[in-house]
Amino acid sequence: MEKIMLTGDRPTGRLHVGHYVGSLRRRVELQDMGEFDKIFIMIADAQALTDNSDTPQKVRDNIMEVALDYFACGIDPEKVTIFIQSQIPQLTELSFYFMNLVTVARLQRNPTVKTEIQMRNFEKSLPVGFFTYPISQAADITAFMGNVVPVGEDQLPMLEQTKEIVRKFNAVYGDVLVEPEILLPENSACLRLPGIDGKAKMSKSLGNCIYLSDEPEEIQAKVMRMFTDPGHLRVEDPGKIEGNTVFTYLDAFSRSAHFVEFLPEYADLDALKEHYQKGGLGDMKVKRFLNAVLQAELKPIRERRKAFQKKIPYICEVLETGSREAERVAQDTLDKVKRAMQINYFENDDFVNSQVERFGK
Ligand code: TRP
Repeated sequence: MEKIMLTGDRPTGRLHVGHYVGSLRRRVELQDMGEFDKIFIMIADAQALTDNSDTPQKVRDNIMEVALDYFACGIDPEKVTIFIQSQIPQLTELSFYFMNLVTVARLQRNPTVKTEIQMRNFEKSLPVGFFTYPISQAADITAFMGNVVPVGEDQLPMLEQTKEIVRKFNAVYGDVLVEPEILLPENSACLRLPGIDGKAKMSKSLGNCIYLSDEPEEIQAKVMRMFTDPGHLRVEDPGKIEGNTVFTYLDAFSRSAHFVEFLPEYADLDALKEHYQKGGLGDMKVKRFLNAVLQAELKPIRERRKAFQKKIPYICEVLETGSREAERVAQDTLDKVKRAMQINYFENDDFVNSQVERFGK
């Protein structure tokens, strides 16, 4: 079977370091390993509109912010098809047929959708489109026969629903669709990188994000503000690692080369943690190290982003070409789906002939 990777992001803001360690960094590695037959990365504007229907300009502008972040991280359009969801009408059509395979009760049980409904105060005025976005996400994945989906942990329920839809479809209409596997980030720090305030999730509304496009001074200021162990008051005090955001970020970002370069007195992160827990290591020193690590990691990304900001027409061209290519692939799947569902009336003479036969000459 072909190895096909598909993933995507909602264009609701610039991408941040949580996106980076949670998925983007991995995508670039996978792209460069060359193990995939096809890689699709989608800017999910239609999904973004499910809870931003009244701010179309925001979604429109963020298409380019997200595309710039992709290019900045090293996503290569020679190896990856980058496309815009709304430009592929086949996805909408596929979603419509999938809707018959999912119950309202099943959607209501989706834990990610549940939390998101609460976060958006949608309890009383839930848009149908938002409620059903897991179904549209199943269409996104299956339209490209994606079998590897690198996303964050919060997307697990979407993948579960996709698998259920695939199984149901294949059981009812015959083997057409492929069950996807989620590819989770390598460690727990990357799985769910907290905001700089230590809050569970980085989010624009909480103002606790470090963006890939942040300037060096912004990064430094955010690291210095970062939540640590509130019980670690004096340098001599023993400190806690668990729930200490600075160490979570080091888990996600630091490599041995960083120790050699910026903190040679420690062999590795374990040695640094051990000293912190024993007492005698101040927060400032750890933060200065994290700042050095983040600056080193984010500088090339920021610089590439600035270079691509000068090539906006080129990026638009890549998105347009990618969308055309994606549409061809999705149409191919839709043809198979409609054949399997027996709604391909005019593809050949089978329909007319069979009906003529039914009613007699
Ligand atoms: N729901 C995803 C997110 O919020 C974005 C997305 C839309 C997606 N369609 C997808 C991710 C298909 C993977 C596959 O990040």
